[in-house]
Amino acid sequence: MRKITKAVFPVAGMGTRFLPATKANPKEMMPVVDKPLIQYAVEEAVEAGITDMVFIIGRNKRAIPDHFDKAYELEAELAAKGKTELLRTVQEVIPKHINCIYIRQSEALGLGHAVLCAKPVVQDEPFAVLLADDLLDGNPPIVKQMVDVFDQQQCSVLGVENVPREQTGSYGIVSSEVIGHNLELVNGIVEKPAPAVAPSTLAVVGRYILTPRIFHHLEQVRPGAGGEIQLTDGIAALLHEERLLAYRFDGIRYDCGDKLGYLKAIVALGLKRPEFHDEFAAFLKTVV
Ligand code: G1P
Repeated sequence: MRKITKAVFPVAGMGTRFLPATKANPKEMMPVVDKPLIQYAVEEAVEAGITDMVFIIGRNKRAIPDHFDKAYELEAELAAKGKTELLRTVQEVIPKHINCIYIRQSEALGLGHAVLCAKPVVQDEPFAVLLADDLLDGNPPIVKQMVDVFDQQQCSVLGVENVPREQTGSYGIVSSEVIGHNLELVNGIVEKPAPAVAPSTLAVVGRYILTPRIFHHLEQVRPGAGGEIQLTDGIAALLHEERLLAYRFDGIRYDCGDKLGYLKAIVALGLKRPEFHDEFAAFLKTVV
């Protein structure tokens, strides 16, 4: 039985939807309460038992490796001042047994191309893909739920949820048939179809478990929607050879690539913090 030990984080995008905030800072470093989006995604992978984090980075993304590296000066300063709690927070950004691997995508040719950049590291193992601007809140964490599906089914799994029909043009959309609790057999997938032609309203969110055969197809894929090499097109080709499942995850997705979704994440996750809950809830009542 094959195990998922590697996760790929494509973080080379330009984050244009969040300008000017993302002019000099990666969108994946935007904080929700006190942690950057990329840290939430990495923690989700760690909780699924994944040990090798493969980041596909581009220019202007140095803050991401810096975030997961040891911060010598900061740690020395916090230690000298006796700020042990903060020191622990900084040292525990990522557990010691986790490997971080950085691959540079020298040209932003699309999500499919970014995932293909991970091939030299992933090689012939199944792996997870997490898009950090989709913040997924669930218990157990969503990637863990999907790894459990993979462990049983031994095939690629896409995280999906229903979206309003007018939004199909923002997502990969699957056509599928129900085969079990929260589980569908995918028979088609198309990137960002217009609402009138979308095969369904079941949208892929930024969580994938893929078999290594995807690399073969990504090598063949021509630029598709938006002139980019699309992961969805690689998955559509993979479908002709392998069984592929869509999993309706148990949890809430915040689209933090979108300003409104990002605000919702901050409010919801802020309210979940016991130290802020009462005062923050009372404050929100005064402003709405
Ligand atoms: C990407 C994928 C799309 C998927 C979406 C989930 O699109 O191409 O298939 O549904 O992520 O967030 P993007 O949001 O990068 O345009």
